[in-house]
Amino acid sequence: MALYMGIDVGGTTVKGIVIDQKGTIICENNVPTQIGEQLADCIITLADLLVGATGKVYSSLVGVGVCSPGIIDSENGVIVFSGNLKLKNYPLKALLEDKLGIPVKVGNDANGAALGEAKFGAGKGYKDSILVTLGTGVGGGIIIDGKIFEGNKGAGAEVGHMVIERGGHLCTCGRRGCFEVYCSARALTARTKWAMEEDTGSEMWKAYDYNTADGRTPFEFMVSDRSARQVVEWYIKHLACGLANLANIFRPQIIMIGGGVAAQGSRLTIPLQKEFDNELFGGTDYAPVPIACATLGNRAGAYGAAALLM
Ligand code: BGC
Repeated sequence: MALYMGIDVGGTTVKGIVIDQKGTIICENNVPTQIGEQLADCIITLADLLVGATGKVYSSLVGVGVCSPGIIDSENGVIVFSGNLKLKNYPLKALLEDKLGIPVKVGNDANGAALGEAKFGAGKGYKDSILVTLGTGVGGGIIIDGKIFEGNKGAGAEVGHMVIERGGHLCTCGRRGCFEVYCSARALTARTKWAMEEDTGSEMWKAYDYNTADGRTPFEFMVSDRSARQVVEWYIKHLACGLANLANIFRPQIIMIGGGVAAQGSRLTIPLQKEFDNELFGGTDYAPVPIACATLGNRAGAYGAAALLM
């Protein structure tokens, strides 16, 4: 049985799985992300845990696929630039192959997640689809006519760095007002904490404090608490704006939402679809664009990473 290791580097957690050709999970695990030059070391720690759990040795795997945020030179396996990981020209493939002794492939995390969904999840059977990941950053995987669109040398599809508020908040990429600054899980958490500070009577304070509140908190209280509802509305308006920009250009058959925020399911997608439909060019009578949550959830990137070797 051919086995594939897939590793997804997130801004806070590195997730790994070992799967077979059909996508059956043999084992999975995760470790905290080490930002900066130590990244390869923490991936190796995770790979050792995973290979140990399979009861096999590295040479019995087909290889290791790694999906990482940022511009990836996939031919050479180099992270050319990642603002979130604070890396420039980082030779990840060479560092990993040196230690693991088996083939390593590296790709962009959101492209990987889109491929994972197209092969094993919600994107199956669609010619043109877009997956937007809402995690530490905002990533995009654009599939056109069944093929991933990556731009010149894989540097494209950086949907998180499309500006939705000119002159807005500063992004890790150096520009202001990027989609990511308003719609990442990090942005949602920051807005939640801001809203809690503004309204000390908010129900959000009953269950959480400044350290424990995160992006899930406003969704939990959106029905009963005004401040929580306002955070969700703020978030959904910005998200609908960015997604409608993408839909107006590519008009895909479906938009999938992945990353941590997608765990909100229909609490997110139902109001989001409404806002989005209002912004969709020409309305929804002709070529409507349904928005769905990615079915592989948080595992989409790891699946896609493993699929890099298939
Ligand atoms: C990066 C993308 C990545 C996304 C999600 C963005 O900040 O620029 O390359 O796909 O975060 O991790």
